[in-house]
Amino acid sequence: MSAFDELVDRKLIDHVGVCNFDVDLLDEAVDNMESPLFAHQIETHPLLQQDELIGHAQENDYHHIAYSPLARSNTLYISEITEIAEKHDISASQVSFVWLLSRENVTVVPKATGEDQIRVDFAAQDLELDDENVERIRDTNGPSGTSAVTARRGSKPDRRLADFCFHARSGVDAVRITRRLV
Ligand SMILES: NC(=O)c1ccc[n+]([C@@H]2O[C@H](COP(=O)([O-])OP(=O)(O)OC[C@H]3O[C@@H](n4cnc5c(N)ncnc54)[C@H](OP(=O)(O)O)[C@@H]3O)[C@@H](O)[C@H]2O)c1
Repeated sequence: MSAFDELVDRKLIDHVGVCNFDVDLLDEAVDNMESPLFAHQIETHPLLQQDELIGHAQENDYHHIAYSPLARSNTLYISEITEIAEKHDISASQVSFVWLLSRENVTVVPKATGEDQIRVDFAAQDLELDDENVERIRDTNGPSGTSAVTARRGSKPDRRLADFCFHARSGVDAVRITRRLV
């Protein structure tokens, strides 16, 4: 990690960010760099809530950047999310983003190709969810969470992951279910 300090000292980079680290590696980064850790980017969404990693970001004051914040479109099919979206007349993507942004230190990097979708997603910054809805979405996490990136590498969006998460919430091991999907 000291190589990053050198890059900062030489003004080749402004800040240091890392990606796909676990807590041990994040500790190593925080402990062994003179520069403060600026950001950690990792898959985070309502099906993979990453409480431990977000707690680490809050304690050590760096940004937790949620990539694949829609679980590659899968959060758009979760019934809790679509119900909240319908009730408040906003999009399911906005509900997913607002829920993530309600957590301290969390920012999101969504991907959308169409201009309309980009506008809708961008507008989520001005929205808020009340505590009841925030808690409702917290309940969508499986026992160990479910990775959309691992489960659906290269496949088209469908509702299988959300369905599997429903089973995961019913007590079946989410990791085992995810493996069956691949
Ligand atoms: N650091 C890493 O290891 C890593 C790994 C994976 C991803 N990422 C980053 O994370 C970012 C996003 O992740 P991602 O692409 O995996 O997943 P994502 O943002 O969770 O989902 C992208 C999908 O959501 C759809 N979408 C976005 N807004 C929508 C809306 N308003 N209505 C309906 N559908 C909508 C997109 O549709 P369209 O296709 O029609 O636009 C696309 O199919 C990317 O910029 C990527 O670089 C980083």
